[in-house]
Amino acid sequence: MRVVMVGTGYVGLVSGVCFADFGHDVICVDKDPAKIETLNAGGIPIFEPGLEALVAKNVRAKRLSFTTDLKAAMKEADAVFIAVGTPSRRGDGYADLSFVYAASEEIAQYMEGFTVIVTKSTVPVGTGDEVEKIIEKHHDTDSFAVVSNPEFLREGAAITDFKRPDRVVVGTENPKAKEIMRALYRPLFINETPILFTSRRTSELIKYAANSFLATKITFINEIADLCEAVGANVQEVAKGIGLDKRIGSKFLHAGPGYGGSCFPKDTLALARTAEEANVSLSIVSSVIDANEARKRRMAHKVIDALGGDLTGKTIAVLGLAFKPNTDDMRDAPSLTIIPRLQDKGAVIRAYDPEAIEEAKGLLKDVIYMDGPYACLEGADALVIITEWDEFRALDLRRVKAALSKPDVIDLRNIYQPKAMQAAGFNYNSVGRPD
Ligand code: UGA
Repeated sequence: MRVVMVGTGYVGLVSGVCFADFGHDVICVDKDPAKIETLNAGGIPIFEPGLEALVAKNVRAKRLSFTTDLKAAMKEADAVFIAVGTPSRRGDGYADLSFVYAASEEIAQYMEGFTVIVTKSTVPVGTGDEVEKIIEKHHDTDSFAVVSNPEFLREGAAITDFKRPDRVVVGTENPKAKEIMRALYRPLFINETPILFTSRRTSELIKYAANSFLATKITFINEIADLCEAVGANVQEVAKGIGLDKRIGSKFLHAGPGYGGSCFPKDTLALARTAEEANVSLSIVSSVIDANEARKRRMAHKVIDALGGDLTGKTIAVLGLAFKPNTDDMRDAPSLTIIPRLQDKGAVIRAYDPEAIEEAKGLLKDVIYMDGPYACLEGADALVIITEWDEFRALDLRRVKAALSKPDVIDLRNIYQPKAMQAAGFNYNSVGRPD
């Protein structure tokens, strides 16, 4: 199969290289010449474990290439994926679809022969219909099909998620398009991956419902963590106790400082807007959005309270800035809400993150960046863990204690055990675990 991937952001790049690794011929197209130049020179503009090697392997095998020339790429394409950004529109939370529509216009200009146009970007219900209208202006309806095929890739685990998905969702009722989509995903049949064919609108909604449900699960356990603190229970054990019930499941029940990233905050908002437009109440999703925003602010106050209120003259070592481990992505990261509030109370912030420092520099003011966890701790008055990178999970506690001028540790990801930390002489504070 010949595949064109429009957009070499996170989703486009990962999907493109994984299709190439399945044996398809893939051309990735981007408007940004600098990005294409970097990719052609073997550079990867984002941090994602395993991506660089997989790109190099498939470029060498001549199954993967990068260009700015959509017209040339489109020659003989069986499927063209739209994987451009759909950011939240400033101020109103609606998904901004201008990039999707612009890509559709261009695809319509260069399409030859029967082509499947696939929306991989997360797009609100009904977007496929709009894309179809754009293509229809230039082509007969039987010479193309617009299909929805949402991605379920987690940053940091995207390659595994693409190659070993729980399911693939394909929204189309066109038989020819179904055949092409089946052929594209055929390599997954070996793992017996379920491929769910639905209508296009249903498929578009599945994506938002999945992300909103996961955001709800996290927010639920975060609120239970607050209750645990108030009544003297342990949230990790509660999560285990409920997660063993197969109807609930154990994943996405880690309490923490609130969800962040480029997906959950944007997609919950966009789903709420879609519901408003349809005059349907999605009160749970709206509550989740509010609760998560409030949580990030409350986590700042948790740190401030644990350190006695006034932070004037105190230096706080922050470990972890990215919204989660294994990514350099800072979008809607809890650290962006927490750190400025600690600074407002007078704290000097010293921070270390294995990958996100460059990203963080443009978003946080007056932070002193360090090049390792122990350097970050040296002489600080407290340690705050915001992101649970593996390298923070087994710090040498004696070294930590010796480095800190006061043994105050606030662990917002529950990566240490309260009893062990107390035994090691720390004033240890975590989430939903009072002892
Ligand atoms: C999420 C979904 O998991 C993917 O399936 C989806 O494809 C992707 O959004 C998307 O729409 O593109 P991602 O944002 O990369 O993926 O990250 P997650 O691993 O889902 O984590 C999201 C946030 O929830 C992070 O801030 C994380 O720290 C937080 N989280 C996650 C918790 O606080 N507790 C948990 O138990 C799990």
